[in-house]
Amino acid sequence: MRNEVSPIKDHFGRALKDLRISVIDKCNFRCTYCMPKEIFGKDHVFLSENELLSFDEIVRLAKTFAKLGVEKIRITGGEPLMRRNLDELIAQLTVIPGIKDIALTTNAVFLPKTAKKLKAAGLKRVNISLDAIEDEVFKQINGKGVVARPVLKGIEAAQEAGLEVKINMVAKKGMNESQVLPMARYFKGTNIILRYIEFMDVGNHNGWDFNNVITKKQIIDMIDKEMPLEPAEENYYGEVASRYRYKDGGGEIGVISSVSDSFCGTCTRIRLSADGKLYTCLFASSGFDIREKMRDELTDEQLEEEVTSLWGNRRDRYSEERSEQKNNNRKKIEMSYIGG
Ligand code: GTP
Ligand code: 5AD
Ligand code: SF4
Ligand code: SF4
Repeated sequence: MRNEVSPIKDHFGRALKDLRISVIDKCNFRCTYCMPKEIFGKDHVFLSENELLSFDEIVRLAKTFAKLGVEKIRITGGEPLMRRNLDELIAQLTVIPGIKDIALTTNAVFLPKTAKKLKAAGLKRVNISLDAIEDEVFKQINGKGVVARPVLKGIEAAQEAGLEVKINMVAKKGMNESQVLPMARYFKGTNIILRYIEFMDVGNHNGWDFNNVITKKQIIDMIDKEMPLEPAEENYYGEVASRYRYKDGGGEIGVISSVSDSFCGTCTRIRLSADGKLYTCLFASSGFDIREKMRDELTDEQLEEEVTSLWGNRRDRYSEERSEQKNNNRKKIEMSYIGG
């Protein structure tokens, strides 16, 4: 039996528990709120092979993090399934002592080809992005004219492979308010949890404006009128989604309200970009280059010290500051680069 690790704490006493690893900055979609095609066009320069962390480097870092208290790993992108042989990485991550949960956030298009292999490698669950059930709306959002069917196929493949599935739907005025109810109706009564996400001001190019945010309250009111809801307890400490269950037993939904509420007080997450930079907040301006440290041949102990010091000095609380109308105008990292 392995002894429980006591996690390191940041400046505000928040423990380090989750590691979100972006494995690639490319995506097969061009969602308007994430990688608008006007910005991420043909001449956009993505990270080169040599800039990407190798699987060995990622695994080495994950082991370091597990020693410092991380229990949960989430793989993100861009679109993580565009990274070749991802199942091989997952197989190595799942066997790290102390890692209790490993999950993937994806747009699902490549799941029919990969779900079985991912499950066999030890993946437990997938969060699948789907912002509309009606083709005309979805085609506009993903910027590639892709209809809902390939995503629904991906969902089926994940379920058939035995992966637990949740759906993420970013809700934005002028984009998909027409889909809030159709999506709820579609997933109610399945064992799939649909989570609505308030449109956030991540990155510098998504034209964020508070007037475009559909708030948690608006979403809940809309659904509750047709399909009555009641609040449910959180599944785990620091869960980003507030849970609601249908009163008639039709399952549950979630709402991720980083704009109208904030959950910085329980934020236990660190993010690793595909090129090896560590970010202590989704809204950070700059990262800590851990790849350089590794390639400079730091020992494992030295790496642990670097991470401990980075986390120890962490004071990030962007969502809270946003609600206090403090920051704004700072340059931020892009969602497709850091994976949410
Ligand atoms: P579970 O482990 O299934 O609860 O997943 P998750 O909700 O933590 O991860 P997912 O990748 O599905 O993210 C869902 C949404 O939550 C995305 O829009 C993320 O950007 C957002 N999110 C996740 N962590 C944070 C965070 O620390 N801060 C903010 N502001 N948003 C976050
Ligand atoms: N606001 C809220 N959620 C976003 N996502 C991408 N960009 C934004 C944004 N600006 C979502 C994706 C995916 C998850 C990782 O983050 O749709 O489901
Ligand atoms: Fe859309 Fe996700 Fe790709 Fe961003 S990373 S463009 S949200 S599918
Ligand atoms: Fe954590 Fe930053 Fe999100 Fe707050 S805004 S919950 S500190 S990632």
